[in-house]
Amino acid sequence: MFSLEEVKDSLEIAGQSHVLQFWPELGEEERSAFLRELAQLDMEGLRGRCEAAAGAAASESRGLSGNIDPVPPEFIGSVKKSDKNNILQWENEGFVQISNKRVGVLLLAGGQGTRLGVQYPKGMYDVGLPSGKTLYQIQAERIHKIQELADIKHGSKCTIPWYIMTSEFTLAPTEKFFEDNNYFGLEPSNVIMFEQRMIPAVTFDGKVILQGKGKIALAPDGNGGLYQALVDNNILVDMKKRGVEYLYVYCVDNILVKMADPVFIGFCVTKGADCGAKVVEKMHPAEAVGVVCRVQGIPQVVEYSEMQQEMAELRGPGGELIYNAGNICIHFFTRTFLQDVAEKFEGQLKQHVAIKKVPFVDARGSQVKPTKPNGIKMEKFVFDVFPFSRNFVVFEVEREDEFSPLKNSDEAAIDSPTSARNSLLAQHCRWATSAGATLLDVHGNSIPPTASSVLARDHPPAQCEISPLVSYFGEGLEKLLKRQKLTTPFILDKKKAEDLQPQ
Ligand code: UTP
Repeated sequence: MFSLEEVKDSLEIAGQSHVLQFWPELGEEERSAFLRELAQLDMEGLRGRCEAAAGAAASESRGLSGNIDPVPPEFIGSVKKSDKNNILQWENEGFVQISNKRVGVLLLAGGQGTRLGVQYPKGMYDVGLPSGKTLYQIQAERIHKIQELADIKHGSKCTIPWYIMTSEFTLAPTEKFFEDNNYFGLEPSNVIMFEQRMIPAVTFDGKVILQGKGKIALAPDGNGGLYQALVDNNILVDMKKRGVEYLYVYCVDNILVKMADPVFIGFCVTKGADCGAKVVEKMHPAEAVGVVCRVQGIPQVVEYSEMQQEMAELRGPGGELIYNAGNICIHFFTRTFLQDVAEKFEGQLKQHVAIKKVPFVDARGSQVKPTKPNGIKMEKFVFDVFPFSRNFVVFEVEREDEFSPLKNSDEAAIDSPTSARNSLLAQHCRWATSAGATLLDVHGNSIPPTASSVLARDHPPAQCEISPLVSYFGEGLEKLLKRQKLTTPFILDKKKAEDLQPQ
């Protein structure tokens, strides 16, 4: 721990002496807590980072134009367009890797979820499914099931370690939630939580913002903080010890995430990729998603705001968008690639600037909740390592099956609890009907299968929910549901599945 004098000197060198302006007013405990907080800052890099943040916020964002190309088809696989036999082979390969314990999953869960607006980690959110399950529980159960499927296929007991990156905001409540829920039946030693770094928010002239008299405004360093956090917390060492060579990285908010998807993993492994991205077809040119492309021949995500309109609107002969590979934040990395990133490239990762309203104390020490943006938060993004890949591949999946993120509260029209809930229920209705079941409403009238794909608020899908413990991705349902008439709301959990099991 640094002394007050040392901290003062470093702050002065960084041009941040104002941080201690209320020091004389602080009590003993506040002083030691503040010193502890300040000691965690990277003081040497502070001046450079603050200046870079202010500079980046002031400079106009330039749209990228020339030399952007879609990823060439030979590096793309697709659930819809690839040959069915290939898909089967990739799936088999994925299962081989899973049963050989070479696959881990990594959840990015350090975000503050400000748009959703709840005070607890997003993974603890219940979108209102009939079962009341949270996002964390759904993900845990999918891990269970895929392990079980791999065991059945290859006759060996396997584990998929679940690495969970949290932040100062999410670590303690996430840990408690998992403990209170008995780790959803997973072995606690295979659920590894760790914390990413926090960095200060700064004003437009590059001054660290004080959130309280003895507290700076800190925010997690973006989901690209992953690469530093892997090193800080010895996660790569842990992976090596466990023999995990492939990592499936995903965001907490996608209710449809296919955990450790064997098809995607098998595709990446078969292609010898060190880095891969799952994508969905962009819905329309103005959809605000990043697009996976090549810039000067190098793979990267071009953000929606960086792509010029004419380019976003370009269409091919069949009417499809040329730049249509929408990034959904599901990635494949080899451990050796991550090791390389940690050793050689972490320092080169781009810093993105987000202009935000950051609560602060004014010069008189009064708390202010700004009504317009007053601060800059710097973030790194998880996909910014793509340019360092030596063999980068893309895998296109169906949006309705694999992507429905929870970003906003129900006041928003999209990416809300309602849209997330409806996407999952619609998928489960599709699974049930294609397994041969008929869904009935409370009056005993059959619900036409097409009704289940309607996601509009006024026509929610039928309340048919299938536990991941029963089916991971629609498999194994025919023997349970064929010719069954299911009155909704209907939950197919393990108990119910045992009752339905043909004797
Ligand atoms: P988002 O960019 O959607 O941010 O994160 P968010 O925190 O969930 O929500 P807003 O923007 O505050 O409303 C995408 C994913 O990256 C993770 C999130 O937890 C989510 O899974 N993330 C984000 C981190 O792990 N760390 C961060 O610093 C930021």
